[in-house]
Amino acid sequence: MTQRILVTGGAGYIGSTTCVALLEAGYEIVVVDNLANSSRTSLDRVLELAPGNLSFHEVDIRDADGLNAVFESAPIDAVIHFAGFKAVGESVAIPLAYYDTNVVGTINLLQVMQQNEVRNLVFSSSATVYGDPEQLPIPESAPLSAANPYGRTKLMIEDMLRDIAVSDPSWTIALLRYFNPVGAHPSGRIGEDPSGIPNNLMPFIMQVAVGRRKELVVFGNDYPTRDGTCIRDYIHVMDLAEGHLAALRALAEIGGCTAINLGTGTGSTVFEVFEAARRTVGHDIAMRVGERRPGDASACFADSSLAARLLDWRATRTIDEMCIDAWRWQSMNPNGYS
Ligand code: NAD
Ligand code: UFG
Repeated sequence: MTQRILVTGGAGYIGSTTCVALLEAGYEIVVVDNLANSSRTSLDRVLELAPGNLSFHEVDIRDADGLNAVFESAPIDAVIHFAGFKAVGESVAIPLAYYDTNVVGTINLLQVMQQNEVRNLVFSSSATVYGDPEQLPIPESAPLSAANPYGRTKLMIEDMLRDIAVSDPSWTIALLRYFNPVGAHPSGRIGEDPSGIPNNLMPFIMQVAVGRRKELVVFGNDYPTRDGTCIRDYIHVMDLAEGHLAALRALAEIGGCTAINLGTGTGSTVFEVFEAARRTVGHDIAMRVGERRPGDASACFADSSLAARLLDWRATRTIDEMCIDAWRWQSMNPNGYS
């Protein structure tokens, strides 16, 4: 029987890519998004890439009546919850907005799910919940901490979801801890469209390469790593999308509330990513080394063995494929969706 999945934040970067994967796999989808950080165009393009059954509701996840109406309009089998704010620096500047959208929004969603007897959930968590990791690669059992309000919202939501699963065993919840999602759909039609100056490495490099920014500043080359720059576990957004499908399929079997890393299991330095991007775009990209960015861990990469075991899923795409797809998206859409 066809399953209907409610996707909050489905117009966003990871959400839209996952919508394509869901439609291709034959799911029906109901997207809820208030378009705070996205545009309707992404969903038009999702349907162009994967014609299928997708309905869109411009609703804020903090709006209980609006959400309830969506649940009542068609039976939902499971929810993938992407909606939220995600910029670390902004969360320090406007913490209340982060607690409101991420934490209050999630509480609201969970209450509406409960009222409508939907208890299957895949949640977008983040490797940020590991803080400055002591152990590498990082297993799911590593100590959790948060260094900023954004991270605290993810940790609070994780704690809440663990409590709910204990209180009522009919909940099945996957906490997917993403490492560093990059790249785009290989069509170049959907991808990451950060508003303002990008915080993240890959979109910044691509915007310099396309002429929108002057130069990349590498935040420090005096870390204790192989070339002095920080190591991260970059994961292609297509692999991530497939990870969500694998989690949906495995939910019932796993049961309870389970945290699972979605990463490749290996890390790349900032210089390595920069070199791969330069090879891809085929011309020089302006770059200089600057000061360290406060709060950056020197290295962070996943122990990805639990995902392989529980979900039968592994990331397969290389850093070159990540750069090629990010560049196709950036060069075909130099100003994003606008
Ligand atoms: P995104 O900003 O592109 O997508 C989030 C979507 O949620 C947007 O479409 C936005 O309009 C929507 N949204 C925001 N507030 C809302 C509200 N109150 N009601 C309804 N919709 C709302 O971000 P993304 O990169 O696709 O991230 C998706 C999720 O994954 C987020 O929860 C984020 O914290 C998490 N995550 C992202 C990364 C990353 O590097 N991109 C890493 C780890 C975890
Ligand atoms: N970097 C630069 N210059 C830039 C941008 C980034 O040198 O202009 C460096 C950073 O110092 C870091 C690496 O590139 O060493 C990656 O930085 P990102 O900001 O792309 O990614 P982070 O790992 O710092 O942060 C990401 C998400 C956060 C999340 C965190 C942990 O953006 O939301 O992963 O999961 F909290």
